[in-house]
Amino acid sequence: MSAKIIDGKQIAAEIREELKAEVAELKEQGVVPGLGVILVGEDPASQSYVTAKERACETIGIFSDDNRLPADTTQEELLKLVNRMNDDPKINGILVQLPLPKHIDEAAVLLAIDPDKDVDGFHPMNVGKMMVGEKAFLPCTPNGVVQLLLRSGVETAGAHVVVVGRSNIVGKPVANMLLQKKEGANATVTLCHTRTKDLAFHTRQADIIIAASGWPNTITADMVKDGVVVIDVGVNRVEDASRERGYRLVGDVDFEEVKEKAALITPVPGGVGPMTITMLLFNTVESARRAHGLA
Ligand code: GUN
Repeated sequence: MSAKIIDGKQIAAEIREELKAEVAELKEQGVVPGLGVILVGEDPASQSYVTAKERACETIGIFSDDNRLPADTTQEELLKLVNRMNDDPKINGILVQLPLPKHIDEAAVLLAIDPDKDVDGFHPMNVGKMMVGEKAFLPCTPNGVVQLLLRSGVETAGAHVVVVGRSNIVGKPVANMLLQKKEGANATVTLCHTRTKDLAFHTRQADIIIAASGWPNTITADMVKDGVVVIDVGVNRVEDASRERGYRLVGDVDFEEVKEKAALITPVPGGVGPMTITMLLFNTVESARRAHGLA
């Protein structure tokens, strides 16, 4: 039996429609949510992500302040811009696209962002609040994963979720969010990584697999049980001469094989990707509400 596809594009479009209506209401009260976007350097994947984020802002009525800086921008210059945005009342959210060039201390930059404008949820203050279950800006990709599960009617309470990958952007936060005592969570979570012994032993026990390893074919059909729910966070470029641009995008899961055993699965592209940007818009609108005492 072939799995039902979780359509991230469709779910993201529904949430964006909800947000568009909220932004229109806020505008009637004189509030225009604003997002400050900073990209340092010319990494092609980062450029396309940032362009997509800016376009998404435009379509729902969020003002975006676009800043594309050369790769040799100094840390001081970058911190100056972050501080200017911290002080700018028109900016409700600040997004510094990662990764940053090697000569810049990423942790120092994330720490400089006002936690009340940290719509990426990467500031240690927000990470800590999330971990202890306090209200915080939740990081966008993990929150997108949780929303996909919720809106697809997947029961996470008591389910065994196996997360593959321990990045600060996806693996660690999504594991943490799913073990919280609240709706859309309450799972038993196993977090696997590059030093895990016998990965397949763990993934075969999973009711839900969240693949965020950053490598194609990390999860193959022999590694999953029948009826599993699979969320594929991977975005990997693999060479493909038949495509005009010379590559195609694949996830971390062997989609064609695994979909024959899974109950539900996300495609790549069109699964988690559209949700990441949507949750960024969600956080920016929420931040604007809070800034104006409307939350
Ligand atoms: N790089 C990869 N994912 C993300 C993200 O969600 N936010 C930022 N700022 N950079 C990223």
